[in-house]
Amino acid sequence: MSQLQDNFGRRFHYLRMSVTDVCNFKCTYCLPDGYRPDGKPKFLSLNEIENLVTAFGEVGTQKIRITGGEPSLRKDFSDIIRIVADNRNIKTIATTTNGYRLEKNAQQWYDAGLRRINVSVDSLDPKMFHQITGENKFDEVMRGIDAALEAGFERIKVNAVLLKGMNDKDLPQFINWIKDTPIDLRFIELMETGLGHDYFTAHHLSGLDIKRQLERDGWLYDLPNVDDGPAQNFSHSDHKGRIGLIMPYAKDFCASCNRLRVSAKGKLHLCLFTENGLDLRDLLQDSSQKAELIERLHGQLAQKKETHFLHQGVTGVTQHLASIGG
Ligand code: GTP
Ligand code: 5AD
Ligand code: SF4
Repeated sequence: MSQLQDNFGRRFHYLRMSVTDVCNFKCTYCLPDGYRPDGKPKFLSLNEIENLVTAFGEVGTQKIRITGGEPSLRKDFSDIIRIVADNRNIKTIATTTNGYRLEKNAQQWYDAGLRRINVSVDSLDPKMFHQITGENKFDEVMRGIDAALEAGFERIKVNAVLLKGMNDKDLPQFINWIKDTPIDLRFIELMETGLGHDYFTAHHLSGLDIKRQLERDGWLYDLPNVDDGPAQNFSHSDHKGRIGLIMPYAKDFCASCNRLRVSAKGKLHLCLFTENGLDLRDLLQDSSQKAELIERLHGQLAQKKETHFLHQGVTGVTQHLASIGG
């Protein structure tokens, strides 16, 4: 079966599959008012997930990141991991989590087949963490990271969204933390969503300032691996951890795009921004629909745009990133 490819020669071997919109945190840049369901949400069932994973696996997907909302709020989260792990085409299974359930479940998820975890930690100051996330759970999340390291997860990544006037003073503390902790710490530029221009202008910080500081302090740029995400990574001989910068406002950010997204309700998103998503759900009901589903995927790829155009002042149309997992 031929691989998914767009009109710009980009290939898509990485699927970000959201399994729920629900989150138990209220991050100010994402879901400041918490999660509000529109009616009775019906997220993808295990059967629908299996059909989705099978079809994507046959058109070149080798890596699946299970996202949300907070994916671990699904009671059948371990079953979802197992479905992905059982597919012979998928070589890498990852998730992105707020870390709240990690301490209790890291081993169980590892045993189900999960191998990579990205955890959001926006501040190392418990008070600032509370202020940003709306939850006083800093200690739980940090214990969760320790539990994941013990369970044997390959390089754990920690995400911090850069926020002017909030966590921008934490940089020295973050850098100190990764002296002896072997994690990949990534700073993400705040992206403008439909939540509001005012929040964005008040808090957006450019990753380039951090890049300049890292280069001044002897951090060296690492060449990317094939299945790497969008981060530019840096290492330092005195530090066990690495630093990654995710800068979606950089002009060429989308040139190496290798990912597609499916929302928790089964909509295909060709990009994090700029479109509403195409429903795949009618073709996820039975394994006999696979060929038709694959045909629809190929047809859609021809529509993928070259870039999100955020660097030209276009605003993200998503209300928040929780519904398609960032
Ligand atoms: P790995 O490199 O595989 O670990 O994944 P990742 O960095 O893609 O995963 P993660 O879920 O940790 O993503 C971190 C954040 O980077 C996302 O939540 C987004 O905010 C941002 N991001 C990831 N992929 C894209 C993308 O394609 N476009 C944009 N604009 N931002 C992205
Ligand atoms: N800008 C940048 N990153 C965001 N995330 C959620 N919303 C935004 C935004 N507006 C990030 C979270 C998490 C990942 C899944 O998405 O911090 O690390
Ligand atoms: Fe790909 Fe869209 Fe992300 Fe750009 S913003 S890297 S095109 S998903």
